[in-house]
This record gives sequence, C-alpha cells and structure tokens, in this order.
Amino acid sequence: MATQSTGTVQKPINIRKWVEDHREDFRPPVGNKYLYRGEDFFVMVIGGPNARNDFHKTASEEYFFQLEGDICVQTIEDGQIVNHLIQEGETFFIPPNVPHAPQRPPGTVGVVVERNRPPGENEHQQFYCPDCHELVWDEEFDCGDIVEHFRDSMEAFWADPERSTCSHCGTRVGKPGPVERIEVGEEVTIIRSGASHS
Ligand SMILES: [Fe+2]
Repeated sequence: MATQSTGTVQKPINIRKWVEDHREDFRPPVGNKYLYRGEDFFVMVIGGPNARNDFHKTASEEYFFQLEGDICVQTIEDGQIVNHLIQEGETFFIPPNVPHAPQRPPGTVGVVVERNRPPGENEHQQFYCPDCHELVWDEEFDCGDIVEHFRDSMEAFWADPERSTCSHCGTRVGKPGPVERIEVGEEVTIIRSGASHS
C-alpha cells in the first residue's frame, strides 16, 4: 500500500554554488546556515572560525562532510581528548553519546547532518581539562531548551572560577579565542588567537 507523501520535493542543489551564494552566512558571528530542515533530520553548512571549548554529548548520531579546508573534531574516547583531523573532502561519523567539539579555522566550510531530537530527550554540554582530560563540568539540558541556553551556559562556565577549574590538576578552562589554524605534526594541534590553551 502506498503511503501518503508529505512535503514537496525540491530541485537538486549544487552545493558548491550554494556555498558561493551564501558565503557571508558562514562568517562569524552567524557561522552556519540550514541546507535542509526535515522531519527526521536536518542538514547544516557551517563555516569557521569558531571560538568554543565546550563538548556536546547527545543520544543521537552526527555526520560530517568537509567541503572546504581542514578542521579538527575533538572527541572524548576512553577518558582522553582525541583530536581528529578532518581534511577537505573527508567524511566523519560520530556515534551517539560520544562527547565532541568541532574546531573550525577561518575560511573552512563543512556539512553537518543531525537528527531532530524528540521532546523530553536530554543532552549535555561538557567541558574537559586540556591538560589532564578530566571532566570539569557537565550541564544537562532538555534538547528543547539547549539552543536558547547554550551560549549563556558557556559564558556562565567561563566566568566562574569554581566551575571552570579542574579539580584534578587545577588547570582553569578559560574562554577560548577563535581557532586560527590546525597544525599537523606528530599530533594534531589547535592554534587559537589570544589564548594559551587548546
Ligand atoms: Fe586537569
């Protein structure tokens, strides 16, 4: 039996041309723009630089496709911060419940696909110590509230010495400067402007 279709079918989009046409939207302070907003999932195009050191932990998956330039996606795996270099043309997948923090240098553009969260589902904003990788702060939100409160919650964390000091090694997790570039040697290193820690 045929199921009733919902929504209209759009014409295909040439992603390179679309990026050119919306180039201004990928610059700070906006940084991102929706490509599709479906019932099940949404697709965003996101530019750099960003300036944040919070990790996001959700019960859903996340898919990356890097269109222009190289970024670093930090994840927490086995209690350690892992820096994944995602180069132009590469694709990356984050399973559910893996804390992650994309670090985007200026001039980079990438696609991110995420599932729409059902009401009542919670998600976390977390901060990890850059020195010993210990969890420093965990804020749990209802996903319905997270968009509105995300920025406030970050600012509150950075401003509060008690919250933002690692209880394990005493390192303060401060407000980061924008990502300047990603350095690739034996390790992948995030270089920020005006900040001492990545
Ligand atoms: Fe620490």
